[in-house]
Amino acid sequence: MASSLRGRDFIGDLDFSKAEVDEVLNLAWDLKKKLAAREPHALLRDQVLAMLFFYSSTRTRGSFEAGMAQLGGHGAFIESRTTQISHGDTERELGAIYGRYFDAIAIRHVEWGVGNRYLNLVAEASRVPVLNMQCEVYHPHQCLADIMTMMERFKVRDLRGKRVVVSWAYAASYLKPISVPQSLILQLPRFGADVVLAYPKGFELMPDIVQQAKDQAKEHKTGFDVVNDMKESFKDGDVIYAKSWGPLLTTTDAEKGKQMQDQHKEWITDADKMSVAHKDAIFMHPLPADRDIEVTNEVLDGPQSAVIDQAENRLHAQKAVMALTMGGY
Ligand code: CP
Repeated sequence: MASSLRGRDFIGDLDFSKAEVDEVLNLAWDLKKKLAAREPHALLRDQVLAMLFFYSSTRTRGSFEAGMAQLGGHGAFIESRTTQISHGDTERELGAIYGRYFDAIAIRHVEWGVGNRYLNLVAEASRVPVLNMQCEVYHPHQCLADIMTMMERFKVRDLRGKRVVVSWAYAASYLKPISVPQSLILQLPRFGADVVLAYPKGFELMPDIVQQAKDQAKEHKTGFDVVNDMKESFKDGDVIYAKSWGPLLTTTDAEKGKQMQDQHKEWITDADKMSVAHKDAIFMHPLPADRDIEVTNEVLDGPQSAVIDQAENRLHAQKAVMALTMGGY
């Protein structure tokens, strides 16, 4: 019997039910084992994924492209600046036309107020699944890999009782998207985790996303707290997921946003702050990180860090989503 996910888009974290996310994770672990054993798993033989990027990437591009090859298909890397999009190709044309060339269309478009709408318009016009490689609202494949990583590290399939701290961190480089923390707070309650969301005032997430996250927490009887102090938020945390994001609900102006960020240089994850977390706590970050600014090298490269496992699990989680939505399973 074909999966209920066949032909489905994956744009927002809650597009898949909890049972469907479980199906994805189970297949991800199966595919991870098969890859480690070098067992063939060509579930998408002769299928082609369009990978349309409006924004740079190291992990997302590498993991989707390698994943398609391992599944027996091909990932076509397409940079928007090399297309005719800036000369007038519309979202609907792209969805309709690429839907006839490709078996799925994956898109990264993080521009504020533009990216998520773009993905949805392409999806409306496309006859094949649209997969979100990150927009300004969600980073759902990163979140699946993160949940896989937490479960592996704690050797559980249910995160009930685990305190997951999703914290803002200082960055000097640029205003990073808010999609990673938003995806985490939406998906984690479904797996039983208690969420602690920490940020300095002015760095709020989208109110409707926070409301949905609170609704999820209520439905799944999990904790959801918001605090404005980094070290206080780390107290008794099992997972310290600390990364920077821009104050984009307050300002999208890069200079003004940087001025706001520069007022909070003490929001760095270091050994002192990690000392108040649970003794077996893990540190997580999707990368790239501003080293010794968001997080010290000591923590990022230390034994509590799970960042390389997170990056690896992108591959396995995405292969499972592609196999299930593109119909090779
Ligand atoms: N974590 C993540 O999405 O990495 P890239 O930006 O390198 O794809």
